[in-house]
Amino acid sequence: MARPYVITIASEKGGVGKTTLATNLAIYLKGLAEDLPVTLFSFDNHFTIDQMFQLGKQPGKGHIGQIFSGTTPRELVVAGQYGVQFIPSCRQLFDQQRHLPGIDRLAEILSHSQLGGLVIIDTSPVLDLYTRNAIHAADRVIVPIKDAASLENCRNLADFLKQQERPRSILRLLPCLIDTRIHFNGPFRNSYQLLKAYAINRGYRCFEGFIAKSPKVESLSTNPSGKIYPVITHGRGTDVHLQFMHLARQVYLDYLQQGPIRMNTVATDFYDREARLVRERRERHSRLHNGCLCCDRALPDKQVWPGAYYLESGNGQLAGYIEDDCFIDLIMQDCYGEQKGKDREESLRELLVETADRSYFLLQRTRLADDQSQIDFFRLDQSGEKLSGRSMQVKEKGRFNRQQSPRLRQLFGKLSPDETPDQPQLLLAKRIGGDPLRILEHQNYLEWQTIFSRVRVDLAAEKELPGQVLQVDQ
Ligand SMILES: Nc1ncnc2c1ncn2[C@@H]1O[C@H](COP(=O)(O)OP(=O)(O)OP(=O)(O)O)[C@@H](O)[C@H]1O
Ligand SMILES: [Mg+2]
Repeated sequence: MARPYVITIASEKGGVGKTTLATNLAIYLKGLAEDLPVTLFSFDNHFTIDQMFQLGKQPGKGHIGQIFSGTTPRELVVAGQYGVQFIPSCRQLFDQQRHLPGIDRLAEILSHSQLGGLVIIDTSPVLDLYTRNAIHAADRVIVPIKDAASLENCRNLADFLKQQERPRSILRLLPCLIDTRIHFNGPFRNSYQLLKAYAINRGYRCFEGFIAKSPKVESLSTNPSGKIYPVITHGRGTDVHLQFMHLARQVYLDYLQQGPIRMNTVATDFYDREARLVRERRERHSRLHNGCLCCDRALPDKQVWPGAYYLESGNGQLAGYIEDDCFIDLIMQDCYGEQKGKDREESLRELLVETADRSYFLLQRTRLADDQSQIDFFRLDQSGEKLSGRSMQVKEKGRFNRQQSPRLRQLFGKLSPDETPDQPQLLLAKRIGGDPLRILEHQNYLEWQTIFSRVRVDLAAEKELPGQVLQVDQ
């Protein structure tokens, strides 16, 4: 699959020449290798790219904001001037930032995009989620620096890469907007040499050369036609033209030598992750007990599934379903068996049934002595917060009667003997209507595990702080 080599232009300092660099570099690279697809887009909310590359008057239908909501890059890309293709810019990017799920989304999208060639990303002067996504996806991050302040700002980019466990060497600094008329006495003769020395001293790598400040180049973005012209067509007589050629050659050589390593790694990680998720889901399916965990009757087919309770033990050893009626009987008889009065019993049963779809149910068995246990039953809300509960003392050996929670004993009996008897055993249950296997899908199962973790943390905290008040069902 054709995967692109991704170049991100980033700097937290505004006005250092990022957009000028991104747009012109795209053109110079295309000039070096005519057949190489070069794709350009910007995560800034101005329209320089569109003004420079748009063919004709009609803007493209899509815009870069849609890349995170399911539209593929290939659907968004439009052919542009100078052979560079681009994704039109978007003014409302900032408002949409909260919909971005994380910093790795763009990398994943581009690795599946089949764009091939080179992708160049212009960013805004803020290390926001878009910029982070663009850096996370990049093989090479080019940082224009124009003075000591913009060099200091590189530290955040380097820290971000470190956090992501990516090598700092993907950063390449490039002195830009250098005023070549200024000369110093001493070892560094001009600001380019000085900046470069500072940068190397701080452990950064730099491109060879620099981009000079040129009144001609500055004038290319301000003219009566409203267009923005590139250096290659309108600034050929300047030093900047030669400097861009030199830069493009270095970038192109890097691309030839390395290839799209980043996208290949991201794609491999993605497929590894997908394969792992499939394996884990299969494993969860294979653990499921055949038939109802209480009465062992065969469970209905998915097509006629009336709903049932999914139950799993804390150690993952026991997993399966309990039919609706079996579960409610289990709770009513084994936890509330001694309820006085038919009315009281009926209203409790109704409450359980009514709230079942919005609740989790937790059963905890704690060994008190060799033949004695305590079983606690809790009803939890959807976030795992305890709502109500009650405790039963249960004889573990010998005969038992209705008050001795026989079904619960049987259920816990399905677990192998405790390896650590002082640790309580946990069973968590939740009613599943619709597709019974939905709970085992990755995202839903993550939620289930989150609730289970919360329950464990809460129980551990209560053990340390006994006497926490909980409404006890009478
Ligand atoms: N080599 C150059 N010589 C002279 N002027 C330049 C040069 N490069 C860029 N400029 C001008 O400097 C200004 C800032 O450049 P540019 O917009 O590329 O910076 P930027 O880092 O993208 O800014 P922002 O952070 O606001 O997005 C623009 O007016 C541009 O025309
Ligand atoms: Mg810019």
